[in-house]
Amino acid sequence: MDVDARELMTELREDHRNMAIVLDLLETLVDEMEAGRDPDFELFDEIMRYMTVYPDAVHHPKEDVVYEQLREKRPDLSEGLDDVPGDHRDIARLGSLLRDEVEAINAGAAVRRDKMIEDTGAYIQRLRGHMRWEEDDLFQRIDKMLDAEPHQVDVSEWQHIKDPVFELEIEAGFRRLMQSLPPAA
Ligand SMILES: [Fe+2]
Ligand SMILES: [Fe+2]
Repeated sequence: MDVDARELMTELREDHRNMAIVLDLLETLVDEMEAGRDPDFELFDEIMRYMTVYPDAVHHPKEDVVYEQLREKRPDLSEGLDDVPGDHRDIARLGSLLRDEVEAINAGAAVRRDKMIEDTGAYIQRLRGHMRWEEDDLFQRIDKMLDAEPHQVDVSEWQHIKDPVFELEIEAGFRRLMQSLPPAA
């Protein structure tokens, strides 16, 4: 079966919408901490676990593949392109540090509130900026490549992996996160 690479781009954009919802939720936890209250740390933990098992493990590697193919096949469209895999590694590193901090808190460790606020805020900013850049720059270049030659990106290895929060009906590991999502628009 011939899968159009544009389906993959649709999936990447859908992932961004979902990640933006989760980041908004994460920001409400920062607001709580800034107001001097304890956030829901179980929810915090589920959010950070979600970020590591889906965006870091599924979404970003897919983008890396498309990015490599763009560079390889359309050097003319790749001029001045940022280092996407490097950005993804940075984001994954920040995310796992934050996840470790939250796990430590849930295990009873004392972590400074101002540090949590700072680290979480930096993570949100970084990921939002990254997604914005991808949509405004990287994805536009990929669309141009696909408009010219829809089969330029080899998607034979590509398979859809379900998002454990937005696509699976029952996922015990993310119950609190699923219950905290805004109603679907
Ligand atoms: Fe990305
Ligand atoms: Fe992305």
